Amino acid sequence: MASRRLAPRRGAGDCAGFSTLPSCSRKCVPERRQTGRSAPPWYHRGLNPTPQIVVLDAGGQYCHLIARKVRDLGVYAEVRPSETPAGELESARGILISGGPNSVYDAGSPTVDPAIFACGAPVFGICYGQQLMAHLLGGEVRKGDQGEYGLATLDLDPASDPLFAGLDGRQQVWMSHRDAVAALPEGFSAPGRTATCPIAAMAAPGRRLYAVQFHPEVVHTERGREYLANFVFRVCGCRKDWDARGRLPLLEREIRDAAGTRNVFFFVSGGVDSSVAFALCARALGESRVRGVYVDTGLMREGETEFIRGLAGVSVETASEQFLTALQGVTDPERKRQIIGEEFVRVQERIFSERRLAGDEWILGQGTIYPDTIESGGTANAAVIKTHHNRVAGIRKLIEAGRIVEPLKSFYKDEVREAGRELGLPSELLDRHPFPGPGLAIRCLCSEIDAPVRATGDGYIVPVKSVGVQGDSRSYAPVLAIDTPDHGRATALINRLSGVNRVIAGVETRLPVSRMRVRACSLTAERLARLRRADAAVRRLSHASGFDRSVWQFPVILIPLGTTAEFPDSVVLRPVASVDGMTAQSVPIGAELLQEMRAELLRQEGIAGVFLDLTHKPPGTIEWE
Ligand code: XMP
Repeated sequence: MASRRLAPRRGAGDCAGFSTLPSCSRKCVPERRQTGRSAPPWYHRGLNPTPQIVVLDAGGQYCHLIARKVRDLGVYAEVRPSETPAGELESARGILISGGPNSVYDAGSPTVDPAIFACGAPVFGICYGQQLMAHLLGGEVRKGDQGEYGLATLDLDPASDPLFAGLDGRQQVWMSHRDAVAALPEGFSAPGRTATCPIAAMAAPGRRLYAVQFHPEVVHTERGREYLANFVFRVCGCRKDWDARGRLPLLEREIRDAAGTRNVFFFVSGGVDSSVAFALCARALGESRVRGVYVDTGLMREGETEFIRGLAGVSVETASEQFLTALQGVTDPERKRQIIGEEFVRVQERIFSERRLAGDEWILGQGTIYPDTIESGGTANAAVIKTHHNRVAGIRKLIEAGRIVEPLKSFYKDEVREAGRELGLPSELLDRHPFPGPGLAIRCLCSEIDAPVRATGDGYIVPVKSVGVQGDSRSYAPVLAIDTPDHGRATALINRLSGVNRVIAGVETRLPVSRMRVRACSLTAERLARLRRADAAVRRLSHASGFDRSVWQFPVILIPLGTTAEFPDSVVLRPVASVDGMTAQSVPIGAELLQEMRAELLRQEGIAGVFLDLTHKPPGTIEWE
């Protein structure tokens, strides 16, 4: 059977030993998309019903998550650019406005056609969507004294209107904002508040206009699904018309339409996304029309290439020297991703030409999923949180030329796993932790500067920079090291300190943190080997204890924070719980396992200290770069 082509032939028992295929099958880094009115190509309707709910994309990274959560309720939803004229939304039974990274007062910030507020369809604004609704209808939005990122407690008054029906009382919600509504538009009431946000919900039920400052679409808002269900069914009166199960035949039809008579060539990584996409294409087109190559970039985890060699239908191309040479001396994370994406394209071109795949009879298959496109600024307004290596210029050219098929581009990880199960792929493969396409390169932090840590009243500022996502936009900021693994304190500190987007706690260091320093360094084979050893040890212990099954992902990060020349780097442990990778919570590690990891890591060459990352997403991303 086609899907068995990716079933591991040997070594399949240890899923901790797998890593995800480099998803060359994931997209490369984009040039920033233009904000515009027309839908980008991957918004095409395909074989879907007319959407009852339209989500207007104001640039928030959770925009597509809103649409997906509505689909989970059994109602088909689609995303449109925020400026879509009201006249084009007439068939929608309800409109949602997403969050976004801007302030409503920024020049050129996303807006909506004000006519939507009087077109008869109910409107529900979320986060920036609430601020925009207030601003356009005569209310006032102000910059908050402090940001509110992560969990907050909402108090909701008893209300008789349908959006808030049955939801009154105290509840946990998820916030990610600094601006907030300070004065209501005329005719609105404010039924909900948190300690730092007096207008956390607003409503004009007579006009069927509603908004909340928190994010009902993320799992950490405990009753979020009920808010969306109330909107979709009670307010808008939608009927169920969607079931994601059974989508495979439609996806296969889309693949056949995209490929025509051409064959599909995949760069596989061993991970869930590219494996499922590969198997899907093989089922749609027949095995003989789908080929796969795994590129050994030298940036993969221990044991990965050996694992791939055991996969049927996939050959291995060794290119580690090419990647390491191109990355030599580079410290900037965005540049690293660009280079990795560009080198992938070079390898691809070489393989295409060596194997005579350059002709019109071949197109490229990719396992790109929703978060890749969203966080790469893939929708009209979406902020570039960071660019994914499979959306680089070369790949974008192939997209424009219609020479790419990405059957999973509107799927989230859990939906990809479901599709994989429907295809009959083995669970050892489907349940692997995600591993980023750029591999260990983005887990091995580099530094341009040589500098000591700096003591503050709150802890120590470690002058490495890591990527975060605050208020829906990208941040790139230093890290704060504290003494105790207190997650609550870490969240409070990040909300208060605007110059920091991540908090780590020391597990053990060879010298006090106050005497450690960051040194200038880039990616070297030596540092990659150090990280590979550390990662392998942590995975081994995590797998043996069963801990790996309790987390969604467990990146191990190497940072250039050392004591002496003999011990130049430290390791940061980053176990997270998540459902879809869009939001995540840092997970504590039990004392015994943590001690085992600490002891093992400090026995290794070059490691000066071990830290635990206490940061949720937002404000930190799961990966550090
Ligand atoms: P972040 O770090 O954005 O990660 O919170 C969300 C999920 O995406 C994975 N990730 C990537 N995967 N290429 C990939 O193939 C990339 O460039 C990339 N960056 C992040 C990350 O491991 C997590 O699962």
